Amino acid sequence: MSTAPIGIFDSGIGGTSILKEICALLPHENCIYLADSKNAPYGNKSESEILELSIKNTKLLLEKNAKIIVVACNTATTNAITYLRANFNVSFIGIEPAIKPAALNTKSKTIGILATKGTLSSHLFHNTSALYAKGIKVIEQVGNGIVPLIESGQLYSSKMEELLKLYLQPMIDQNIDYLVLGCTHYPYLIPQLESILPNHVKIIDSGLAVAKQTKTILDQNGLLNPSKTKPKIELFTNLDLEILKSFSQPNYKSYFLDF
Ligand code: DGL
Repeated sequence: MSTAPIGIFDSGIGGTSILKEICALLPHENCIYLADSKNAPYGNKSESEILELSIKNTKLLLEKNAKIIVVACNTATTNAITYLRANFNVSFIGIEPAIKPAALNTKSKTIGILATKGTLSSHLFHNTSALYAKGIKVIEQVGNGIVPLIESGQLYSSKMEELLKLYLQPMIDQNIDYLVLGCTHYPYLIPQLESILPNHVKIIDSGLAVAKQTKTILDQNGLLNPSKTKPKIELFTNLDLEILKSFSQPNYKSYFLDF
């Protein structure tokens, strides 16, 4: 079982930002990544639709023999991970907006969160926010339209710049000193975000924390791959193979699969 792959899924190519962190921290682990781009964005779907899609992705990863599943999507984590953990006999690692470090370190007592509607309206997000952000002003902003632009390769388009400015300006006006990225697509926008934000605003994303947690749980379960050979990193998309390849690393193998 320890040589079996780590299974990872997202609504699209965004979770490759997490895959990269996992490959860097665990360079001998085989990985299978599912980009459910045909159904992106998840962010505006209902909780039951997000759950149904998460179940579909989980079943496929288990058919492909995944030894652990990383839900590399804040929207799927916050809406579906409780159900997945209760109903599948495998460990799940999830990703949620990293409010805690931002709330602990903010000096202006004001932080911004950019995430999907599905994440910001979830119970899990509300509970985390209530727990860690007492006495802190949390400016929540839905990133409407951002994911479709990334999924169509328009990262540096003028439309993207326009949207980011629209979403960040109110946060800047209210003096945030931390911006929490609550969607795994958004780390691909860090250069664009940095060019809009004042220099002192720190951007927080949870990719490395997810990779570390994956390592810890594999270790605790005796599932770390002892092999020191080059791993197999396979990515599957159900929409546009060329877009997926444009987010890939040289050692990745990318395929189209209708799932
Ligand atoms: N990458 C996802 C997330 O982390 C989903 C974005 C979407 O499909 O709306 O939330």
